[in-house]
Amino acid sequence: MRQGCVHRYPAPPVPVLLLLTLLFSLLSISPVSGWRPWPHLQTNTTDLEYGPSKKFEGSSEFVHLRYHMGPVLTANITVHTIWYGTWQKSQKRIIRGFLNSISSVDSKHPSVSGWWKTVRLYTDQTGANITRAVRVGEEKNDRFYSHGKSLTRLSIQSVIKSAVTASTRPLPVNPKSGLYLLLTSDDVHVQDFCGQVCGFHYFTFPSIVGYTLPYAWVGNSAKQCPGVCAYPFVVPVYMTGFKPLKSPNGDSGVDGMISVIAHEIAELATNPLVNAWYAGQDPSFPTEIADLCEGIYGTGGGGSYTGQLMDGSDGATYNVNGGGRRFLVQWVWNPVLNYCSGPNALDQ
Ligand SMILES: *[C@@H]1O[C@H](CO)[C@@H](O)[C@H](O)[C@H]1NC(C)=O
Ligand SMILES: *[C@@H]1O[C@H](CO)[C@@H](O)[C@H](O)[C@H]1NC(C)=O
Ligand SMILES: *[C@@H]1O[C@H](CO)[C@@H](O)[C@H](O)[C@H]1NC(C)=O
Repeated sequence: MRQGCVHRYPAPPVPVLLLLTLLFSLLSISPVSGWRPWPHLQTNTTDLEYGPSKKFEGSSEFVHLRYHMGPVLTANITVHTIWYGTWQKSQKRIIRGFLNSISSVDSKHPSVSGWWKTVRLYTDQTGANITRAVRVGEEKNDRFYSHGKSLTRLSIQSVIKSAVTASTRPLPVNPKSGLYLLLTSDDVHVQDFCGQVCGFHYFTFPSIVGYTLPYAWVGNSAKQCPGVCAYPFVVPVYMTGFKPLKSPNGDSGVDGMISVIAHEIAELATNPLVNAWYAGQDPSFPTEIADLCEGIYGTGGGGSYTGQLMDGSDGATYNVNGGGRRFLVQWVWNPVLNYCSGPNALDQ
């Protein structure tokens, strides 16, 4: 299998990139934030970048990511998945494959576990790091859309309640190290999906669910907004001149979900109760370790430019290996280097 770094969009060679980094870090005065082709941004097509961004890998002295003294997930994490709606076996296998590879030790470099190493740099008050161990726990199928095909942020908690209180095979209740992942199929509408979010994380309210459980929701955008939430495997029509990349597991909706799932799990681990690691003054609208790097998947990434990725012999594009599969996963903020980093970086 041929592997190598390719320039999907025109990008200068590494020495030039390093020079640009220096230059841009001197010139850049705007705080960074991640990028996705959200519908409300489409009027500014002239601003789309075809090459390395001025928000180069998020590097900025203006990002003040701070620890707010709350707990982080230092105990072994078990991910309990709820499959809401209609899911193919092949789709479940891609997502399980990704989850299983977070702690896998024998994946080829650059690997998903190498990506998780950046998340492990975060600690709690006692100096304990985020755990190395993430394993797939129990699963629950909600095939018949128990709460309908249109969910709100609150009704999502009711779906989780149904899963942990089911009369047959309920999901285990594990507030210390359990992480609950609700995945909705492509025909389920969720509040703010596609307009403002591709996924989010929070914790459940005891008044609704009976427990405080860290959870994340991620939707399959394939039928609703693949150009937003499955970018860059699908490109919105207004982005003329950009070619979609071929997805590594043959399902652009699910391959697009992988990066969102990674984003949410990284943030859940470092900010499970939304009182630990985040930037910004407003705890009700925190900028977290993956928000800072959304849309950045490789060296030089920023704006609409993904950064330098890898190209398989089948033409698929990816940046990490895991359990015999390939995935495209966004980078996360590195608290030691003070910029976004990932295992496929060319200059770290
Ligand atoms: C897009 O460009 C217009 C005109 O230059 C500007 O008024 C608007 O604020 C820009 N929108 C965004 C989201 O940057
Ligand atoms: C734990 O976090 C500290 C502080 O970021 C870091 O120096 C250390 O390398 C981390 N340990 C592991 C095992 O990642
Ligand atoms: C945590 O996971 C590691 C394997 O990664 C295992 O050796 C260890 O026993 C686990 N600890 C607990 C408390 O389950």
